[in-house]
Amino acid sequence: MDFPILDTQVYGHQLVYLDNAATTQKPQQVIDALSSYYLTLNSNIHRGTHHLATLATERYEAVRQQVQQFIHAANTKEIVFTRGTTESINLVAATFGRQFIRKDDEVIVSGMEHHSNIVPWQLACEQVGARLRVIPFSDEGVLDMEVYQTLFNSHTRMVAVNHVSNTLGTVNPIQEIVRIAHSHQVPVLIDGAQAVAHMPVDVQELGCDFYCFSGHKMYAPMGVGVMYGREELLNQLPPYQGGGEMIKDVTFEKTTYNELPYKFEAGTPSVGDVLGLGAAIDYMQSQGMEVIAHHEAQLMDYAMQKLSSVPNIRFIGTAPGKVGVISFLLGNAHPYDVGTLLDKLGIAVRTGHHCTQPIMDRYGIPGTVRASFASYTTFADIDALYNALLRIAPMLD
Ligand code: ALA
Repeated sequence: MDFPILDTQVYGHQLVYLDNAATTQKPQQVIDALSSYYLTLNSNIHRGTHHLATLATERYEAVRQQVQQFIHAANTKEIVFTRGTTESINLVAATFGRQFIRKDDEVIVSGMEHHSNIVPWQLACEQVGARLRVIPFSDEGVLDMEVYQTLFNSHTRMVAVNHVSNTLGTVNPIQEIVRIAHSHQVPVLIDGAQAVAHMPVDVQELGCDFYCFSGHKMYAPMGVGVMYGREELLNQLPPYQGGGEMIKDVTFEKTTYNELPYKFEAGTPSVGDVLGLGAAIDYMQSQGMEVIAHHEAQLMDYAMQKLSSVPNIRFIGTAPGKVGVISFLLGNAHPYDVGTLLDKLGIAVRTGHHCTQPIMDRYGIPGTVRASFASYTTFADIDALYNALLRIAPMLD
């Protein structure tokens, strides 16, 4: 069993873990990489000349190379380690904002963004009197590309959208979004948090300028993430945080900054977690991203078909080809009540607004119940969810 935690019993039931969009469980290989780092390698990187520091630095930099290859970035200078997607987006919004966003400028986001791809842009805009423009989406959860094209003007500075919606599962047409933005000379940031564990990602093929994701949603430890940025653009941005390692020279009069990617990695990074991320990438690649994508697509078809026959179920997000998540409501029951009853049967789902309140406003609902998949999700897990929903439905009338 690669995932020891999946053996857990919950209220006398075998755990059925369907909250993978919140965080995935960790395979033994990742747990081993983390504990082996602290058992045999722990030391600060880029600073020491001693044996452990040299080894840890080599291993840390080797993961940067692994990440570069995993997302097909042009070179390792474009891979910045952060604490997660949220920090990655904040880094870009703050530095890009400082450099390029001025009064009356505009940033385009979509109506289906996670708060972490809305609020950092709002913060950047509020400081200078700029504003957000929003791409609307259909009842199915598909972005309105006609309206998108009309949002550009000479004040548009950035487009920030997610690759896959954490609430609706919609896979957005990134290449088309980028093509249109670039025809207006506007760069594009992609929140890839819900995509990287579910499909092959090639940032050069997508054409995006920034791509942000978290380790913990792709079988790696919490506390590590990635900000990919095109080298040419990263070179134009000021540093984000000041501190150790991001400098070249410091005097009280003036500081000059380190080269990429170190300019954006102030302070001691989470070295063990980065090595865990390397083990997680190895783990996914040993299965094959195409194989994972195919398995999850079959699960999605099976689950949508099976759950459709649950009385009074209403799906929120029915875009064709959706990935990873199924959001739904059961009659008039509050999502929290459904989640609590499912929990008593050993089934872990997330309930609430999923940090996407504008989506809830769009549908006029307080929240949803969300079941979300990983590569280890089985057809039996879907059957368990289905049977549990049939069992609890009468209690909620
Ligand atoms: N963003 C994570 C989710 O969708 C936490 O659950």
